Amino acid sequence: MTDSFRILGRSGLRVSAIGFGAWAIGGPFMARGKPAGWGQVDDEESVAAVRRALDLGVTFFDTADVYGTGHSERVLGRALSGRWDEVVIATKFGLTFDAATRTLTGEDTSPGYIRRACRASLERLGTDHIDLYQLHVGDAPPERVDEMIAALEELVEEGLIRAYGWSTNDPERAAAFAKGPHCAAVQHDLNVLHDTPAMLAVCDTHELASVNRGPLAMGLLTGKYGRDSRLPMDDVRGDSPQWMTFFKDGRPAPEFLAMLEAIRDILTSDGRTLAQGALGWLLARSGRTVPIPGIRTADQAEQNAGALRHGPLAQAQMEQIHELLQPHAVVKSQ
Ligand SMILES: NC(=O)c1ccc[n+]([C@@H]2O[C@H](COP(=O)([O-])OP(=O)(O)OC[C@H]3O[C@@H](n4cnc5c(N)ncnc54)[C@H](OP(=O)(O)O)[C@@H]3O)[C@@H](O)[C@H]2O)c1
Repeated sequence: MTDSFRILGRSGLRVSAIGFGAWAIGGPFMARGKPAGWGQVDDEESVAAVRRALDLGVTFFDTADVYGTGHSERVLGRALSGRWDEVVIATKFGLTFDAATRTLTGEDTSPGYIRRACRASLERLGTDHIDLYQLHVGDAPPERVDEMIAALEELVEEGLIRAYGWSTNDPERAAAFAKGPHCAAVQHDLNVLHDTPAMLAVCDTHELASVNRGPLAMGLLTGKYGRDSRLPMDDVRGDSPQWMTFFKDGRPAPEFLAMLEAIRDILTSDGRTLAQGALGWLLARSGRTVPIPGIRTADQAEQNAGALRHGPLAQAQMEQIHELLQPHAVVKSQ
């Protein structure tokens, strides 16, 4: 096994160490009266980005039924058609939506809904199974876990999914889901500006993959956004919802820009770009991490796939980063 691949927890599935996040390529949709997409997208550019990533060794693709209210799954399915045997596909369920108005409508985690959502995702993707099926409702009640696990195990038995996981930042919920025999992963926020030791400990205990969302702090870690940047209002970062930490009021949060400046030189040493350095930090953080940077263009696909070539940061660099970020203890570890 080289540094370019990782095993997806107990599933045994082999994935590229860097994946592809497909939220942005879903295009616009609304949630609770605010834009929940990343602005307008060009589907041809999205397809080119997916294929470029695949050609450069990226084999793990993460989407959700709700991204663009089905559009992300359709575009991803089109881009991957004829190449399903090369990829491991992850999608999500649990958030309900109206595709006609491109609007999120609520949540449903009932067994009947899970089955319907799974069939609908398979249809939109244009494939016969989902490798990793993830619960998208991060704070779903733990009392529902047994019922959801039973429904998901049935889908495994029928060959519609191979494994499942929870997209949540709560280590206790991740651990509760791990009692399911085919639970293989937790998807959670993790990047060099926001460490989550408690969640990584759960992954070690239960042999789960740590699928890392927001690995580039929603673009802030690429270095292209500064104090004067203003994100467009049709971008989820432009009309920033309450939960967003890296962008506030449409601008990158100054405390995180300061943290980035403190570690910029280390991240960009060894000829890496900032994004490659940020991804290298994640690869070095644990042998279980699989970062899924959101990718919108073929250029971004090239740069992020380049992180596979550079591999993990060295231990000494990890220690230096830890020291340099100590004075910026604005982000609580979980
Ligand atoms: N609840 C959940 O389950 C959940 C929540 C969040 C994310 N996710 C998943 O995690 C994935 C990644 O998270 P994320 O998309 O929020 O954030 P991210 O990966 O930290 O940032 C992605 C954004 O950064 C910019 N970017 C990426 N690579 C770049 C490069 N090489 N150079 C310059 N800019 C670059 C792009 O936007 P711009 O070009 O517009 O700046 C891209 O959309 C999502 O796509 C999704 O699959 C899941």
